Amino acid sequence: MKVLLFPGSFDPFTRGHRDIARRAAKVCDKLYVAVMENSAKKTVFTLEEREELVKRSLTKYDNIEVISSTGLLVDLYRQLGCCAVVRGIRSESDFRYEAELALANRLLCPEYDCLLLPCRDDMSLISSSIVKEVGHYGGDISKMVPSEIVDTVKDKLMKGRV
Ligand code: PNS
Repeated sequence: MKVLLFPGSFDPFTRGHRDIARRAAKVCDKLYVAVMENSAKKTVFTLEEREELVKRSLTKYDNIEVISSTGLLVDLYRQLGCCAVVRGIRSESDFRYEAELALANRLLCPEYDCLLLPCRDDMSLISSSIVKEVGHYGGDISKMVPSEIVDTVKDKLMKGRV
């Protein structure tokens, strides 16, 4: 059984993230999408909110399970018996960051491996940060996040203004 793990802070989950999950799910038996903490980022959405948004965005994929974890990625990796982690890359700077993350994780866990999927052209400019910026000012985020979560994300970002 080939198990892949797609971790991220997903604050919030975007159409770009969903496309990576969809493509990764095609090449494995089971894909775990793990909502995690990144100590370098202060999130707008709580862990529970982020997990719920990811779940609502991925209901139609039978071999995808959405989970959350507040621990180390390598611990989850071992616990779930993963073959590799999957991450999406949009740019050269993403690649550098991912290469460093993979090296650090491999120091902690020699069996750790990582697959990098280049994002689709039309999704290369979508990021959670852009969604938060546009949504904060009441702009249209409907092309950036899955349709199932547009309203919830918009409401939360607008509330953050007051
Ligand atoms: O979407 P992000 O913020 O780029 O995802 C980064 C994430 C959550 C995958 C990374 O910060 C992570 O693995 N967090 C869990 C704690 C951990 O294991 N950190 C890496 C140690 S090298």
